[in-house]
Amino acid sequence: MGAPCLMLMSNDSTNNLKIPKHIAIIMDGNGRWAKSHGLPRNIGHVQGAKNVENICRVAGEMGIDYITFYAFSSENWKRPDAEVKKLMNLFVEYTKKAVKICKKNNVRMLVIGDRNSLGDKLVENIRIAEESSKDNTGLTMIIAMNYGSRDEIVHAVNRIVEDRETGRIEKNDITEDMFSSYLYTAGIPDPDLLIRTSGEMRLSNYLLWQLSYAELYFTDVPWPAFTSKDLENAIKEYSRRDRRFGNITEESK
Ligand code: IPE
Ligand code: IPE
Ligand code: MG
Repeated sequence: MGAPCLMLMSNDSTNNLKIPKHIAIIMDGNGRWAKSHGLPRNIGHVQGAKNVENICRVAGEMGIDYITFYAFSSENWKRPDAEVKKLMNLFVEYTKKAVKICKKNNVRMLVIGDRNSLGDKLVENIRIAEESSKDNTGLTMIIAMNYGSRDEIVHAVNRIVEDRETGRIEKNDITEDMFSSYLYTAGIPDPDLLIRTSGEMRLSNYLLWQLSYAELYFTDVPWPAFTSKDLENAIKEYSRRDRRFGNITEESK
């Protein structure tokens, strides 16, 4: 069976689009969006969080199975304390609201990243949101919180070494698939498409292993202003790409 096609929109130009199974998004530009509207940075984060709900709904309607949002990187602790505090409060609020939203939209929610520094309240809210949405069969929404790819890889290596020392795994057991199963994203297919908003063209320590063969899409639109139309444009561009995975295809011959 081929990749699912987007038939929901009546417009000819959007018919028969290839729908990625998994989209990863670097939600960048909240601060610049706020500044450009004469607002404090925090309002940009509030608007950004609202947009997660909106884009999730649209993604679900389009038939996307997984969407992974970069909400807070392991490097974002470097920001001023006041901004970090506001972000953490926003995450506490969001994860609480998420329980209802996931139920209403049949969304399964997962959080990836190191929870150790997140604070008890937030960790508890994450646990409740994951647990209460685990049997939902629609879109899987993954939030990367205190996530860093290098941190994730080092964490995986340490666990593999531990399991090797205790005899739970043998030397020859270490394969790419097995390594993937030690990452925070265990069981989740690799993203097909990465979208970064707000004009920066870098990965900022996001899903380095998992994005090996993703198609990359950059837009100048800041995250709080990113609409369903922008998502559709990214998917249109994705549909035009010839994914070769190192092979040759009909198109490239
Ligand atoms: C992304 O927006 C949100 C987080 C990193 C938490 P930014 O806060 O990075 O916004 P800009 O890039 O400064 O505009
Ligand atoms: C990446 O954005 C992290 C998130 C979107 C959560 P940053 O704004 O932190 O990235 P840099 O610092 O510009 O690379
Ligand atoms: Mg930024």
